[in-house]
Amino acid sequence: CGIIGIVSHEPVAGRLVDALKRLEYRGYDSAGVATLEDGVLTRRRAEGKLVNLQRRLEGDPLSGKLAIVHNGIIENYRELRAELEADGAVFESQTDTETVAHLVNRELKRGLAPKEAVQAVLGRLEGAFSLAFLFDGEENLLIGARRGSPLAVGEGEGEMFLGSDAIALSPFTDIVRYLEEGDMAVLRHATIEIFDEHGNPVIRPVRRSTGKAFYVDKGNHRHFMQKEIYEQPEVLSHTLGAFVDMTTGRTRIPNGQTLDFSNVRRIALSACGTGYYAALVGRYYFERYARIPCDLDVASEFRYRESPLGDVDLALFVSQSGETADTLASLRYAKGEGLRIASVVNVQESTIARESDVVLPTLAGPEIGVASTKAFTCQLISLAALAIHAGVARGVISPERELELTRSLAEVPRLANEALALEDTIEALSREMATKRHALFLGRGFSYPLAMEGALKLKEISYIHAEGYAAGELKHGPIALIDDTMPVVVIAPHDRSFEKTMSNMQEVAARGGRIILFTDAKGAASAGSDMASTVVLPDMSEILTPIIYAIPLQMLAYHTAVQMGTDVDQPRNLAKSVTVE
Ligand code: G6P
Repeated sequence: CGIIGIVSHEPVAGRLVDALKRLEYRGYDSAGVATLEDGVLTRRRAEGKLVNLQRRLEGDPLSGKLAIVHNGIIENYRELRAELEADGAVFESQTDTETVAHLVNRELKRGLAPKEAVQAVLGRLEGAFSLAFLFDGEENLLIGARRGSPLAVGEGEGEMFLGSDAIALSPFTDIVRYLEEGDMAVLRHATIEIFDEHGNPVIRPVRRSTGKAFYVDKGNHRHFMQKEIYEQPEVLSHTLGAFVDMTTGRTRIPNGQTLDFSNVRRIALSACGTGYYAALVGRYYFERYARIPCDLDVASEFRYRESPLGDVDLALFVSQSGETADTLASLRYAKGEGLRIASVVNVQESTIARESDVVLPTLAGPEIGVASTKAFTCQLISLAALAIHAGVARGVISPERELELTRSLAEVPRLANEALALEDTIEALSREMATKRHALFLGRGFSYPLAMEGALKLKEISYIHAEGYAAGELKHGPIALIDDTMPVVVIAPHDRSFEKTMSNMQEVAARGGRIILFTDAKGAASAGSDMASTVVLPDMSEILTPIIYAIPLQMLAYHTAVQMGTDVDQPRNLAKSVTVE
């Protein structure tokens, strides 16, 4: 799921593999390297983990006219392939990438120079992708192209770089430019030229911020996921600082932007994966604190639902990477429908950030573990502050109430630390969880989205089948699954939903389910004794419960996965950033 390229007088293979390691977190199913040495092109590819490729690098070289590295999907490759075959081309594989290779080769044979050949071919490709091209005999040339999937170019001294993100380029250079939609870049030892989709030379701004300091290792932690869980008190406080002026306690839209909620009649929210559950909490926040009705869709459905957008005045997207193809497609759809676009994004240079009218940054820092943790809680705190801001703008929240709520938000770093202190308790619980094949997560109100996020975390990294349900839905189906082997995680702070959730929990208990209750001291005191275990969290204001209760659920998934010995940071079949629809 990532590309890296180097043009240099120095040997590059070792550095390419190191950079690929930094891209590993994005998830992938195979890896390949192509190099030109003394004008001779060699390629090696291997399925599975990078170590397989490293082994292959000791194998024999394979040469051809052209090497292509491709991330994404060429949607019209079947018809292109049919056309090429009719023209006499013989294919070695079923891949869409090979189609691109044949197309470029055909243009080269017709006498076009490499750059013109690539340009001619790009115009014929449909889909979302980024591409890098190397040509036999052209040692001083590397061409990159971007359509949908991100691609950045980096400037060194006498050498130039190409990569899917700034993390991959960070050890090489901090002079990084992001290509825009449709751009093509021509890299030589001493120059980088960028052309827009019409072939006109363009200059893209340098982003220096994401330099060496940006790539951090696991520190004392065993996995990136664990490190990222532990970073939460700090990054939550940074993110809060962007949305709340800590000296006055007033909410604000970050970076001097404006987003006027006073006349917003309805908000359409959409996102994927964990971002979707953050958006679901966001919906509860906007409806409760600002009284703005919200629609919510998974991004892959939003534009197909053909919902009349009549009174929707704002489309709000939530994305860690800012590159998720479905979310981006929804954003473009909403834009086409004339809506104002705001997005809560963690990667500020991303496509979603660049195509939004208002960017609401989460300051979680780079998230490497595929399973989202700190980005999720930072999304929640941003959405909470935003909903308060909207409530104030609409006169639903008084200035005094605003201060009271932001004072509560300021408690988050301390409470997050207290939640982290539960790690030993959670680790002990994970030993039993790791022996199970199924698990159920229940919650009501603010805790309902968390039940789904808790289940998602567990299934993503431990491969235990887990489902999150609104506690009230238990009796409409999932109760049939309950017996004395079924672990049931109940998320129930002592809030307005508590009593109702307790009756649902008793229904589980009556059928012998193994209940793990997450609650506070008050909840624990009135919950009775039906639980196999109770985890007691600190008391907190209601608006904070989704943020803080997320932390022990993340730890539960993490430790269960560690017990089971799975690949926690790069779970099978998953990618950090899904750039295909
Ligand atoms: C992938 C990741 C998830 C993430 C989802 C949405 O599925 O594995 O962790 O929640 O994409 O990604 P985004 O970057 O848009 O938040």
